[in-house]
Amino acid sequence: MKQKSLIAATLALAASVGAFAQAKSASDGIAEYRKMLEDGNPAELFEAKGEDLWKTPRGPKKVSLEKCDLGLGPGVVKGAWVQLPRYFADTQRVQDLESRLLSCMETLQGFNATEIAKTAFDKGEQATLAALAAWISAESKGLKMALPQGHAQERRFYELGKRAFFFRGGPMDFSCASCHGESGKRIRLQDLPNLTGNPGNGVGFAAWPAYRVSSGEMWSMQRRLNDCYRQQRFPYPGFASDVTIALGVYMGVNAKGAESIAPALKR
Ligand code: HEC
Repeated sequence: MKQKSLIAATLALAASVGAFAQAKSASDGIAEYRKMLEDGNPAELFEAKGEDLWKTPRGPKKVSLEKCDLGLGPGVVKGAWVQLPRYFADTQRVQDLESRLLSCMETLQGFNATEIAKTAFDKGEQATLAALAAWISAESKGLKMALPQGHAQERRFYELGKRAFFFRGGPMDFSCASCHGESGKRIRLQDLPNLTGNPGNGVGFAAWPAYRVSSGEMWSMQRRLNDCYRQQRFPYPGFASDVTIALGVYMGVNAKGAESIAPALKR
């Protein structure tokens, strides 16, 4: 209860002009710290591991992922990340990177996708997914977000994502938009990007997966969303579930033209 009111107070404070100047210098400090670490972003270790995992024959079928189609044809990795989530004819689903990798790991390598989706972050094949996401996103670094909206399902997912983004509920009556619906908001000295429009190069959707300095972990967008559900006091969503993918479509399409810096370095 105490924590809840504290968060509400922090939100209110961040919105007030008085707190603005104070918060500004602290977030400047965080930006400086990020800059310092940029030359040796630990994300690179995960990228190297991800590339290796992609090329290594694994799973019950002992096959690599080199024939996995991420949307641009079997085995094409460069440029795939900035066009995800998108519709895939073979699964007849709109899929984000993690969901698509689950499909490839199941069909090509013989893994059980449902089991992997239920595995805790950082454990077993979830750690594999995080490393793969780091490498695959890195292969699109500097490219502009360009999610396709040509298929009816892709447009439907955009609308679903928008609804999920503004859906209020839980003990605090929060929605994603409560924290990410306006520009210039801050919480615990973190900038809260406005995700209802294009937040700019390397912000929001165009920054994740990211290496989190505070926890020393590599987080995929799925894990980022999971943590925001927690901040929203909502039950955790299923890993790679349709609602998480729809939110990805909504944020990704909004970010059209923004440059991807994923995997970024975060607090
Ligand atoms: C109670 C406030 C709160 C709510 C509600 C919330 N978030 Fe967040 N979100 C945050 C905070 C705080 C951060 C930054 C965390 C950090 O840097 O450690 C963040 C970060 C993010 C980021 C990464 C931004 C970047 O540039 O790195 C995305 C994307 C995101 N949230 C999406 C969502 C979505 C989608 C929802 C709804 C399901 C949501 N958030 C709900 C507080 C919230």
